[in-house]
Amino acid sequence: MQQKKVLITGASAGIGEAAAYAFAAEACELFLVARRSERLEQVAHECRRRGASQAVWASHDLSRPGRGTEIVRECREQLQGLDIVVSNAGYGVVGPVTEIPPEAVNRIWQVNFQSGYETIHAALPGLLRQGSGHIVLVSSVIGKRAMPFNSAYCVTKFAQAALAESLWGELRGSGVGISLICPGYTATEFQEAAARTESAQAASRPFRPDTSESVARAILGAVRRRRREVHLTGLGRLLIGLNRLSPALTAHITAWVGRRQLKKTV
Ligand SMILES: NC(=O)c1ccc[n+]([C@@H]2O[C@H](COP(=O)([O-])OP(=O)(O)OC[C@H]3O[C@@H](n4cnc5c(N)ncnc54)[C@H](OP(=O)(O)O)[C@@H]3O)[C@@H](O)[C@H]2O)c1
Repeated sequence: MQQKKVLITGASAGIGEAAAYAFAAEACELFLVARRSERLEQVAHECRRRGASQAVWASHDLSRPGRGTEIVRECREQLQGLDIVVSNAGYGVVGPVTEIPPEAVNRIWQVNFQSGYETIHAALPGLLRQGSGHIVLVSSVIGKRAMPFNSAYCVTKFAQAALAESLWGELRGSGVGISLICPGYTATEFQEAAARTESAQAASRPFRPDTSESVARAILGAVRRRRREVHLTGLGRLLIGLNRLSPALTAHITAWVGRRQLKKTV
């Protein structure tokens, strides 16, 4: 892992920040991306303190088309190369479909999926030429089984899962790996940052959360062991497992849980 050049999106907070520290402790070189410059500066400083051989950052709003391509160009320029891409930036939109306007779907699609696709599309030719490297997509357990009142978010997370599944087949034998990480509920700024419609105003905290450090360890482990897919939290694994056994029963359970969640927030 030493001196691998790692690009991480959404590195100013939460899972991305924890992943940056995990790669820093392995003496990697880091290129950190998010919108908040001051936070990125602090994270980069902390990464250097924790052992990163280099840590630079760039402020980008990934809701703007084309930024995914741009960050790969900047990363290659600043680090003189690229080995690992962690596509992690994302946010949630909570509420019923009737209250989520199509424009909100465009935006979350661009940030959560399309910018990651742009990044991977720009990074892959170089990784394939060098015959090594790894791509990590941070999806969600609800990118494997959708939850009511999270439609637009789930669409983007399912799309990441489909991209990873497709790419795994394309990249087999190329030396370039791909891992899909599916966190469960994790204690980060995610709940506060989520865009909420009128009937889903308050942040709900239903279950005991996982930590961003534990998700970061899973990311590092997936790169090391070239794991295709990682599901996190007991409840997350239960949801995915139950859905495999009985999608119909799981649909009823998630409908019930989703309604209860929404009621709690009104
Ligand atoms: N927390 C959970 O319960 C959970 C569960 C499953 C999956 N996930 C997934 O994990 C990933 C990380 O989420 P998190 O929990 O760490 O949330 P977080 O603490 O809110 O961090 C989100 C990161 O994404 C960045 N970001 C958001 N919008 C952006 C934009 N338009 N342009 C550039 N960067 C943007 C944020 O940086 P700036 O605000 O500085 O731009 C921040 O660094 C997401 O993809 C999320 O879907 C989270």
